[in-house]
Amino acid sequence: MKKLKILFENNEKWVQRKIQQNPEYFKHLAKDQDPSYLWIGCSDSRVPANQIVGLEPGELVVHRNVANIFPHTDFNCLSVLEFAVNILKVSHIIVCGHYGCGGVKAAMEDHHLGLVDNWLRNIRDVYARNKQELDVIEDQKQRYNRLAELNVMQQVMNICHTTIVQEAWFNKQPLSIHGWIYDLESGRLRDLKCCFSDIEQVEPIYRVQIRSKD
Ligand code: CO
Repeated sequence: MKKLKILFENNEKWVQRKIQQNPEYFKHLAKDQDPSYLWIGCSDSRVPANQIVGLEPGELVVHRNVANIFPHTDFNCLSVLEFAVNILKVSHIIVCGHYGCGGVKAAMEDHHLGLVDNWLRNIRDVYARNKQELDVIEDQKQRYNRLAELNVMQQVMNICHTTIVQEAWFNKQPLSIHGWIYDLESGRLRDLKCCFSDIEQVEPIYRVQIRSKD
């Protein structure tokens, strides 16, 4: 008996639906991809990237990890960024956090979960940097939600600090990095209005002097 039978049945139904709408659907999809967006989001099962923004397969490059973090030395993040920017030439990168994020909450608690504590250290750093603002928020849920927003903004900046983004800007490739937050309770996205699309918006200490290759 096939394991996880229901998932294979669902898959077959989905294939049939797609073929009914367009008999050439998979033939076209298999040929190439031309997405305009890269999504960096949380692994949380309640935040499915494509569904939230109504995009079809082939339209959105997706990278998800615990608490949508983009550490500047993470090869997984850097590899997907390089591929999306240099090869697929996406013009928008979206970092999308969400309210009620378990990763953000876990980062604020002092118990030992394991390896993930080292990953979540990135969020503790965001907290430390914004301690003054966060400590005056009395309601814990609101405080964690604000931290989720600040975490998004920090990851947006981390992406802007990479040589990959700065090289693209140097080469006049149109590229904007956006910070959004998703509200699990309403299903709505909110723009955190921290959009970066120019090297002038980056603090000088993080600017890399890129020289023309020719
Ligand atoms: Co989360």
